[in-house]
Amino acid sequence: MEKVFNLLKAGVNMKNIALIGFMGTGKTSVGIKLADMLEWSFVDTDKLIEEKMGMPIPDIFEKFDEKRFRLEEKLAVEGVSNNTNQVISTGGGVVLNKDNVVCLKQSALLICLKANPQTILERVGHDSSRPLLAGENPLKIIINLLKLREPYYQCADLYLDTSEMTVQEAANEILYQLQKWGVSDVRCNKGQS
Ligand code: S3P
Repeated sequence: MEKVFNLLKAGVNMKNIALIGFMGTGKTSVGIKLADMLEWSFVDTDKLIEEKMGMPIPDIFEKFDEKRFRLEEKLAVEGVSNNTNQVISTGGGVVLNKDNVVCLKQSALLICLKANPQTILERVGHDSSRPLLAGENPLKIIINLLKLREPYYQCADLYLDTSEMTVQEAANEILYQLQKWGVSDVRCNKGQS
């Protein structure tokens, strides 16, 4: 994990932890594990949108469009930012709207999960629930999208490459780094193994 020394100096707000990052980097699985270890709630903005719209994400893209999905995403981010003690898993494109980043940063430490394109392909390349990866050459789509989004992910406070990690290892590493850098309101309530 890259270190951000001015975490505390910058007054990073630790009411919540928000996981950002590309599809297939482990935001949901690591988020669930982390929330369990902290005994915090886990919320997933994609799930909130699906529940509200009463349909899975690919249907939202198909029956409405990506613009509608992004609007619902913004509303979901605003909603979760009002609560505390949550690990928030976000959709990979949440950072594309600056308002979302500003809103998340008001209540959360932003942790960006990363993975290499091949790993992302193995994890989600053939998963039909990701409309943005539908196409003949998902690896090419992943590489191109990653490049386009790289600057947007730079808003994070901390980064973790999960390519070679299990979910448990990634959650342990996040907690270790937070404790190491003195984010004192993070207490691991459960064992780290
Ligand atoms: C998206 C990522 C998806 C979901 C939607 C759009 C994106 O979430 O929000 O399909 O723009 O990268 P995951 O990152 O959880 O797959």
